[in-house]
Amino acid sequence: MNYFEYYKQQATSTDLSDTERVGRYAQQQQDETYIFDDILNKLPALSRNGSLIIDIGCGCSAPVKRLIANAEHYQQQLVLVDSEEMLARLPEQDNIEKEACQFPNTSLIEKYQGKADVVIVYSVFHCVYLQSDFISFVDSLVQLLAPGGNLLLADLPNATKKKRFLSSEQGQKFHQQWSGNSDIPEVNWNKFEAGSLDDSLILMLMLRYRQMGFETYLLPQKSNLPFSNTREDLLVKKW
Ligand SMILES: C[S@@+](CC[C@H](N)C(=O)[O-])C[C@H]1O[C@@H](n2cnc3c(N)ncnc32)[C@H](O)[C@@H]1O
Repeated sequence: MNYFEYYKQQATSTDLSDTERVGRYAQQQQDETYIFDDILNKLPALSRNGSLIIDIGCGCSAPVKRLIANAEHYQQQLVLVDSEEMLARLPEQDNIEKEACQFPNTSLIEKYQGKADVVIVYSVFHCVYLQSDFISFVDSLVQLLAPGGNLLLADLPNATKKKRFLSSEQGQKFHQQWSGNSDIPEVNWNKFEAGSLDDSLILMLMLRYRQMGFETYLLPQKSNLPFSNTREDLLVKKW
């Protein structure tokens, strides 16, 4: 599936809520409102006046709407990157620059290289890693950072984390409540899984940027977030 094209259609669909347009379930509308607070705790520059913030794959629902309100409060410059269709659902404001393109995009990188205090890429990496060169995707993201800047490559669905969760008593109870039946979920270890986004890929990214001089941290999500049991966030800090 070409996710970028898929989300263009979601953006123009008339019978979906904004929560559903960005790929979440309608019943996660409330949980989605907690995402921005979690991001705020992880990125101190979001609470500073005058920061330059780039949100790549910003979507059109609660998290980016909170980011827009926050940027107005702190007089921050906000660069929103997504398809034209998705960006059309967001307001026009003096402090907002809308960049309609699929990242990585050469002119966007040239324009903002070394300038961003914060780069947010929330729930986007899994759209990219199987259908384009994910190494140049993340390499291009870190190139946007100013000295002291932070990249949050967030909401990574980690298949190995999911297996650990579903192997636990807590995970099995959660699965039973979610599915509405009493089955114990099947968890397979030592099995070939083509295209798996898992510990190996996420830890590789952590190591990659560490040995290039960045600091990297793997952070949990607050438990009230839509997929917190199976997802986590990678923070990359530029000195
Ligand atoms: C799952 S949604 C997440 C939206 C938003 N970040 C959030 O968490 O609410 C993924 C978004 O990323 C956008 N997207 C996917 N691939 C992209 C790319 N290569 N460059 C820019 N945006 C992309 C899609 O159009 C979609 O709006």
